[in-house]
Amino acid sequence: MSDPTVPNAPATPEPHAGVVHRQPDAVVEQLKTAAADDTVVSLGGALPAEELFPTAELERAMAETMRADPAGALQYGWPEGSDGLRAHVVRWMEARGITVGEDEVLVTHGAQQALHLLGRLLVAEGDAVAVETPTYSAALQSFDLRSPRFLAVPRTAAGIDLPALERAFAEGARVLYLVASGHNPTGGVLTRAEREAVLDLAERHDAWVLDDDAYGAIVFDGAEPPLRSFGRHLDRVVHLGSFSKVLAPGLRVGWLAGPKDIVHEATLLKEAQDLETASLSQRVLAAWLDANSLDAHVERCLPVYRARRDAVVAALAAEMPEGVSWEEPRGGFSVLVRLPAGTDPERVLSRAIEEGVLVEPAGPYFASRAAEPALRLSYSNVPERRIAVGVRRLGRALHATLG
Ligand SMILES: Cc1ncc(COP(=O)(O)O)c(C=O)c1O
Repeated sequence: MSDPTVPNAPATPEPHAGVVHRQPDAVVEQLKTAAADDTVVSLGGALPAEELFPTAELERAMAETMRADPAGALQYGWPEGSDGLRAHVVRWMEARGITVGEDEVLVTHGAQQALHLLGRLLVAEGDAVAVETPTYSAALQSFDLRSPRFLAVPRTAAGIDLPALERAFAEGARVLYLVASGHNPTGGVLTRAEREAVLDLAERHDAWVLDDDAYGAIVFDGAEPPLRSFGRHLDRVVHLGSFSKVLAPGLRVGWLAGPKDIVHEATLLKEAQDLETASLSQRVLAAWLDANSLDAHVERCLPVYRARRDAVVAALAAEMPEGVSWEEPRGGFSVLVRLPAGTDPERVLSRAIEEGVLVEPAGPYFASRAAEPALRLSYSNVPERRIAVGVRRLGRALHATLG
């Protein structure tokens, strides 16, 4: 409101985050309360399995970090990230076919910050952005800040709708956000042919491809190569990586890698945002990577996640009522459960919590507000027997809600 006593006085700004793709506050409250209740089985929040955190090794890495160079660990660093950690990131990507120099890598506070930086750099107010639908809701939130026109490209665990992608480019999208592997929330993994086809289309329309590979290593039937490894369209493909899913999200370390110009601009923006990624986290992570093999750690994790994926799929087959559908995830931490048209997922959540299971209404994962009714179930941090109990409870809730 402006001051009525002063003509043409500027309005005092009101805070407004501009974030659209989020759960309503009431749902967040329900989720928080239920998550704190041990009797409720939580199939919400795609958390890595906490018993897989290499706590003893990380403790040693922390001690080593503080012993070797305490001043370095506690001092400010450079916005692009520590040299030691960037060298590890370069090697990890090289093993996946991506060749970049350290100056083509920016260490970020998780892949989430990389998404935010790229949204700011590449999307102007009202631009068209091509996104899979459904897709990772917090990526949509990063783009929300520019009030873009989302052009939806249907995605299921079985694949991506390439004609819809072509239409999105034809309608003016010059940025595509993609979770090719371990897609959140469906668990899909695009085939090599689909990746080639995406690159063909992006190349033809000179569009940026933001390849969010946070789950790239969490795949159950063999990993597919990330898009930058194809060696094509390299001036427009940005790779996003993360240590959250494969090691520990509490470190809050991820990265982006791509053409030098975008890495440089992202570095400037990051400096304006938070100066640098926490030195201590970077040093501890680099010390852990000096002493341990991340590949070997991932190999230990995969059978656990695969068994949980198998458990959730088996339980769904046993417990879901008619009209409810899902596809087997091939990677990632979650499965999308589609509900009959007209079902209110928030009503299902309330009923599910009464039955003792927490699930996530999937509305925020759909770019268009005309979301299909669906739930996201995350199995990653729940032992198989608890998964069976949780899905049985969800089955009861759905039988009651659907009648
Ligand atoms: C697809 C996807 N990308 C990025 C992120 C963010 O990860 P980070 O912890 O690295 O910020 C997530 C987290 O759930 C995710 O699911």
